[in-house]
Amino acid sequence: MKSTIITGAGTGIGAAAAGLLSEQGHAVCLVGRRAEKLDEVASDIRKSGGKCITVAADVADPSCFSVIVSAAANAFGGISGVVNNAATIKTMPFVDYSLEIIDYHWAVNIRAPFLLTQSALPWLIRSRGAVVNISSSSGTLVRSGQSLYGMSKAALEYLTKSCAGEFAKQGVRFNSIAFGPVDTPIHESWASDLKEAYEWLAGEVPLGRIASAQEAAQWIAILLSDQASYVTGVVLPVDGGQVLDIT
Ligand SMILES: NC(=O)c1ccc[n+]([C@@H]2O[C@H](COP(=O)([O-])OP(=O)(O)OC[C@H]3O[C@@H](n4cnc5c(N)ncnc54)[C@H](OP(=O)(O)O)[C@@H]3O)[C@@H](O)[C@H]2O)c1
Repeated sequence: MKSTIITGAGTGIGAAAAGLLSEQGHAVCLVGRRAEKLDEVASDIRKSGGKCITVAADVADPSCFSVIVSAAANAFGGISGVVNNAATIKTMPFVDYSLEIIDYHWAVNIRAPFLLTQSALPWLIRSRGAVVNISSSSGTLVRSGQSLYGMSKAALEYLTKSCAGEFAKQGVRFNSIAFGPVDTPIHESWASDLKEAYEWLAGEVPLGRIASAQEAAQWIAILLSDQASYVTGVVLPVDGGQVLDIT
């Protein structure tokens, strides 16, 4: 049985990925800060006959990774996948970023995927498993106010390629998905007017719409599956053509 750890699994893309992976036979370990959100997702999974555990943890805390990995390995007998999906975003002019905000982006968006991967690696090597790191078109496109978030996603893409090269011989695959706009609660954390933000985001996308979390999740499942057994080190844009940056 495949067994996969998903961070940020209580809402949005992570919750959709947890549901889909469970349908596809993965046992899933759901990680996030809000236990109640994880429990809602877990309850749906268990009602459908899926196997899952929850670990309420703040991935900015480096002590959480050994706890997450032990919980998943003990519950499922191994770990075959990691989806580094949790992220934070604060948009503002470059000069306004405080040390605290810079450090927090680093801790959640970059250090956490790094450390969770390190902790899970012995299990991933044993299972010849796969990691999917969730990036964004913001890691490529330059948009005002997004210097810190975009930088963190560009770093995550580099980490993906670096690990893909380093662990290919041990059969562990690493890929990243650079999503364009997806309909999830994350936009509430940066947009003052959600309707206006959604119109702007849809206007950025040549296909003219925002993706659903479910269609985003499909690509996570594909990259974790055996269908992608010859794919590693890729940063896959799933963005309706946004990075074409048509003006
Ligand atoms: N939606 C988009 O348009 C879009 C586009 C490109 C890329 N992405 C990427 O997609 C990923 C998922 O985001 P989403 O859109 O699905 O938004 P979301 O629904 O807000 O999901 C983010 C999740 O991360 C968790 N999280 C945040 N900080 C955390 C922390 N310190 N420790 C543990 N968990 C934490 C949140 O749960 P708690 O608050 O309970 O911890 C939340 O469930 C992110 O990496 C994001 O950058 C999204």
